[in-house]
Formats: sequence, structure tokens, C-alpha cells
Amino acid sequence: MKLAGRNAIVTGSSRGIGRAIALQLARKGSNVLVCCQSRMDAAKEVASEIESIGGRAAVVQSDLSQESGAVAVIKECEREFGGIDVLVNNAGVGIYTPVHLLEPSDIQRVLNLNLFSYIYLTKYAVANMIERGCPGCIVNISSILSRVGIPGTSVYAASKGGIDAFTIAVAREVARFGIRVNAVSPGFIETEINRDWTLEYRERLIKKIPMRRFGDPEEVAKAVVFIIEEATYMTGQILVLDGGQLSD
Ligand SMILES: NC(=O)c1ccc[n+]([C@@H]2O[C@H](COP(=O)([O-])OP(=O)(O)OC[C@H]3O[C@@H](n4cnc5c(N)ncnc54)[C@H](O)[C@@H]3O)[C@@H](O)[C@H]2O)c1
Repeated sequence: MKLAGRNAIVTGSSRGIGRAIALQLARKGSNVLVCCQSRMDAAKEVASEIESIGGRAAVVQSDLSQESGAVAVIKECEREFGGIDVLVNNAGVGIYTPVHLLEPSDIQRVLNLNLFSYIYLTKYAVANMIERGCPGCIVNISSILSRVGIPGTSVYAASKGGIDAFTIAVAREVARFGIRVNAVSPGFIETEINRDWTLEYRERLIKKIPMRRFGDPEEVAKAVVFIIEEATYMTGQILVLDGGQLSD
């Protein structure tokens, strides 16, 4: 699938990895729906950047921790661009709390956004792709924390493990419609999520990464483009981008 002229949704694209993905898809000629929860100013800046390189962008503000938020994003993409060809489920939230101290509201918040929003958006995007008889591509942003145990990340890890399992099962189900579903599983990537980590903590983590550095959001974005445009016989896969961390 070539991205030129396609319609893409990228959730959580006002900043971080989502922003890099939105810009990378636009550079390939895709129309992009930039999605944010609250930072409309930042989302509009991403849209302006897309327009400045000759692309087409629209912006939607929506809380994806509720099903209605996912419905609003899908409706906006249909209204603005006429349909959905590409969905990148990226919006996510981290939480670092020992399991015995977790509040039910924390558990709910993480699962609602990191897992349930991916499921709802996939449900509605697949329905749109089938209805239009169009092939499509879905990329879910997971994390290697679904496979590497780090204390305090149990709920986050569970949400990402859920994404991995969901990706594999849905891919098998929708392959006959020409829809591919894959995941990208990054290790540590430099974004606002980890900007506040102490130097000591970062150095401890970097020692565990054979490439001895965190990844860059651009590197994740390029992998997403690779999955959409080049890896046309790949579905149900989880592509790990972690500087070699899982090879330990
Ligand atoms: N940064 C890393 O080291 C890393 C590593 C592995 C996986 N990931 C995953 O990559 C994805 C992006 O991470 P990031 O580092 O760019 O994070 P980030 O915090 O910079 O961005 C998260 C995005 O999600 C959006 N968001 C948050 N709550 C929302 C809600 N309720 N409704 C709608 N949107 C909401 C935010 O607006 C923001 O645009 C996440 O799924 C994260 O789990 C990140």
C-alpha cells in the first residue's frame, strides 16, 4: 500500500512518537487526522507543519479513554477525508506504581486508554474499511514492557500484552478483507514520558541496551511507514525496536 492520497488516523499525535508518525505519513503523501486529548494548540501546530510540506491535515480533540471518544475520531475522519485507510493506535499513558498500591481508578485509566481505545478504534475502522471494500492497514504501538518485567509497570505491561494478543487475533480475522494488522514494540524512546527520569535511572537503563542509547521517535515512525508501504505480506506481527534489549 502506498500512502500517497490515503487517509490516516494517528492517535496521540500532538507530541512524541505520534507526532513523528503523523509527520512521516504526511511526508509520504497521506492525509492525516491529528488527534489530541487536550493540547489543541500542539495538535494544530502539527497540522500546520503537515500543510507547510504540502500535505493535508485535520485536527480532532477527543478523550479516547471512552468509547464515545473513539467514535468521534472515526466520524471526524469520515467527514474530513471520506473514509479510513490507515489507523495508527498510539495514544498511551504510563504508570509506575507497585501493584499493591494501585488505585482502581489508575487501573481503569491505563486499560481504558492503552487497550480499550485500541479495540474500539480498530472495531470502527475495520467496519469502515469493509463497508468501503478498501484494503487497510492498522499499526498498534505496543511496548517491550509486555515482555520485560520492570517493577511498578504491571498494569502498563498488561495493557501492552493485551495489545500484542489483540493484534495477532484481529490480523487473522480481517486478512480476508485485505486488511493488515501489526504492532510496533518500542524499547525506550526519547519523549516527554521519560524526560523527567533522573540521570542515574537513565544510565541504569542504558546499560541494559546493547546499542547504548534510547531510540528516537523518528525511528519508530520510519518503522510504521515500512510496515504500511513495504511489508505488504506481513500481518499479525510485532516488530520490536529496542536497540537489542530483548536479545539479552
Ligand atoms: N516513550 C517510550 O519510551 C515508549 C516506549 C514504548 C512504547 N511507548 C508507547 O508509545 C506511545 C506514545 O508514547 P509517547 O512516549 O509518545 O507518549 P507521550 O506522552 O509523549 O504522548 C502520548 C499521547 O497520547 C495522548 N493521550 C493521552 N491520554 C489521552 C486520552 N485520554 N485520550 C486521547 N489521547 C490521549 C496525548 O495527548 C499524547 O499525544 C504510547 O502508547 C506509549 O505507551 C512509548
